Amino acid sequence: MLLPPLKQRVDETVAYVLSRRLWQPTVAIVLGSGLGALAERVTHRSKLAYSDIPHFCATHANGHAGELVMGYLAGLPVVILQGRAHRYEGIADHQARYPVRCMHALGASVLITTNAAGGLNPRYRAGDLMLIDSHIDFLWARSRWELAQQEPELVPQMAPSRATVYAGCLRERALAIACRLATPMQQGCYLATLGPTYETRSEYRMFRWMGADAVGMSTLPEVLAAQSLGMRSLAFSVISNVASTDVPQATTHAEVVAACHAAGPRLMDLIEGVLQELAGQPD
Ligand code: HPA
Repeated sequence: MLLPPLKQRVDETVAYVLSRRLWQPTVAIVLGSGLGALAERVTHRSKLAYSDIPHFCATHANGHAGELVMGYLAGLPVVILQGRAHRYEGIADHQARYPVRCMHALGASVLITTNAAGGLNPRYRAGDLMLIDSHIDFLWARSRWELAQQEPELVPQMAPSRATVYAGCLRERALAIACRLATPMQQGCYLATLGPTYETRSEYRMFRWMGADAVGMSTLPEVLAAQSLGMRSLAFSVISNVASTDVPQATTHAEVVAACHAAGPRLMDLIEGVLQELAGQPD
């Protein structure tokens, strides 16, 4: 099916959201598997189902509510994706990037993403939090053709350096806040796969050998979209399971969601702490 031009789609999505609530968020947040409870902390909250928003993709993953939430968190106007559509659900890369484009068009200049990930670093334990400071992109997503069709304005600058994807100043603030809250925080490299299955122990071993600290199936389309739009990004993983590289041991989605529910409150306190600082020092 031929889609309308990107700008027209973004305008239509934004017009729909603004028709439901006149809103200019400063921060966009994406909540991953089992982490949707942060949206319950939002005050003056309004919600829109993805299925009602023009050009948004529904999410069918367990633990993802599929709602756009607007309101205030720690005094800042925020827009939240409570759940995301994943590439493994059959969507294209540009569709996974699309919600970030729209949140940027609404006014957000900072993106905070969260996900569940399998821990590869042998020092990691289930329930740990990890601040992403680098990534390995196995989503193989951005063909020149797809970019030219969907995001033509990006074609002349095909290779922005990935070194600046995760804003150093925001990471330092997040680490300082984690210290203040006495929340242990790992820092490491996130490897994104297409999924939809969890890995074999041989794949886990290979990813570890490649230099990744954690593996998951999301987030990179969002942070790369944010980078190309000039947004500052902060990205967190909840280590929901520890990869078993030697003993065959299956990871289950229920285990992943349960670990995120347990670790969620710590991550939410931290994100609220970051927002409080941003509210006080908006640069
Ligand atoms: N592999 C891939 N994605 C994941 C995992 C995993 O072990 N845990 C949570 N998301």
